Amino acid sequence: MAQQEDVFKKIVSHAKEYGFVFPSSEIYDGLSAVYDYGQNGVELKNNIKRYWWDSMTLLHENIVGIDSAIFMHPTIWKASGHVDAFNDPLIDNRDSKKRYRADVLIEDHIAKIDEKIDKEIAKAAKRFGDSFDEAQFRATNGRVLELQAKRDELHQRFSDAMNANDLEGLRQIIVDQEIVCPISGTKNWTEVRQFNLMFKTEMGSTADGSMTVYLRPETAQGIFVNYLNVQKTGRMRIPFGIAQIGKAFRNEIVARQFIFRMREFEQMEMQFFVRPGEELKWFSQWKEWRLKWHKALGLGDEKYRYHDHEKLAHYANAATDIEFQMPFGFKEVEGIHSRTNFDLSQHEKFSGKKIQYFDPELNESYTPYVIETSIGVDRMFLSVLCSSYEEEKLENGETRVVLHLPAPLAPVKCAVLPLVRKDGLPEKAREIVDELKFDFATHYEEKDAIGKRYRRQDAIGTPFCITVDHQTLEDNTVTLRERDSMKQTRVPVDQLHALIHDRVSLASLLRKLR
Ligand code: GAP
Repeated sequence: MAQQEDVFKKIVSHAKEYGFVFPSSEIYDGLSAVYDYGQNGVELKNNIKRYWWDSMTLLHENIVGIDSAIFMHPTIWKASGHVDAFNDPLIDNRDSKKRYRADVLIEDHIAKIDEKIDKEIAKAAKRFGDSFDEAQFRATNGRVLELQAKRDELHQRFSDAMNANDLEGLRQIIVDQEIVCPISGTKNWTEVRQFNLMFKTEMGSTADGSMTVYLRPETAQGIFVNYLNVQKTGRMRIPFGIAQIGKAFRNEIVARQFIFRMREFEQMEMQFFVRPGEELKWFSQWKEWRLKWHKALGLGDEKYRYHDHEKLAHYANAATDIEFQMPFGFKEVEGIHSRTNFDLSQHEKFSGKKIQYFDPELNESYTPYVIETSIGVDRMFLSVLCSSYEEEKLENGETRVVLHLPAPLAPVKCAVLPLVRKDGLPEKAREIVDELKFDFATHYEEKDAIGKRYRRQDAIGTPFCITVDHQTLEDNTVTLRERDSMKQTRVPVDQLHALIHDRVSLASLLRKLR
């Protein structure tokens, strides 16, 4: 675990050193849980967004996109339930004056018990070698059974308190388990209070006063309130979907793990409107399609798992997360929710407008049911970055840091490098750049020895380096170096476009989704 934490720290500093992610307002000492994307980060992020957008709007003829405003009428958030119920339970430590999410303190405590169990198992596995039977050990070892019973009891108590919104119950768990503040080390806790996560601001400055508006905490409501507009103007027939990518804001109490939990982040959400009664069929279908989308990137099938929700929001009748194995454990990257007709019905009620669909096949009107797929761009970015980072030991004893980014997502697709800065090689290299740059993000680099330039491109995940040497001037061939294998092949300049396109095009990725 400690080793994984070290790797994560290295990934965070690599992201900064190579222009992927910078802390926001850094010259003013930063702003907590807010980050900026640098010159390479923005390209990677845009490529992730394009992959998602095209997979939705190009591959499904019944899905269209929108781009709604961040500011919306404040009653929307009353209707959606966010004003009354978008809360986290918070607790303060009186000595350190630090604020925590009570549920996170308890979850971390449960995770520590899990770690103890894992350690017992790892010790036994080492002792027994090949003959080790983990299932049998879990079922019979006294220490493991004792820890597991303690964990299960605690988990049950925790989920009961969360389900019942029992703030005093949560506090009592923290007291009974003697959970201490990680900063002060004391148990001097305040009461647990509800904290609404929406940011508020004022709009307008009329004599009658201004209106309180919210920065949207999810993009989904912008889709719901445009349902009628899109359905009517696009003559959409159910089932159909509306997709949107955009910023969302949450005043997270505890923001941690780099860009995993931010206060300003980006979501890619799609609401799929279906006939009542068909929602669970579509829920399973979207679960399958979304996992396929993730796996097509080739980051490793074993790094994904579903986590079905035990506790459902009052408006949902099924929900699951797609979790990804980050260096700090399996974590939610995407949520797939069957939201019934809750949101549209609420907007119908609060706006007084009829939001119904006349189904010509059934010859009846109804409020559509909704399947939502909701993925965080930044979390997706983090999962791609973490699984691509490698400190590779080379045969000559050196180490190279390489990002094995899926080629269609890489910020730079190819770098053209003249071997030396003379003899007409830079001019020839520039000629090649001028051909390739219309289709691929292409870098030109002439500074430093060729090996150093290769390493710099490896560190930002560039799939191909094209080296121009003296032979190029004679026979119009170059060496094409592949990032992962470091294999170099001699190829004619006029074949470069096809060779690169084959590997880096988004279409090659989208075709895997067929
Ligand atoms: N419309 C449904 C919705 O917003 P959610 O589970 O609260 O559901 C969806 O959020 C996704 O948004 C999450 O799976 C995660 O990827 C991303 N997300 C949520 N809060 C985030 C935060 N504070 N920082 C970064 N990403 C976040």
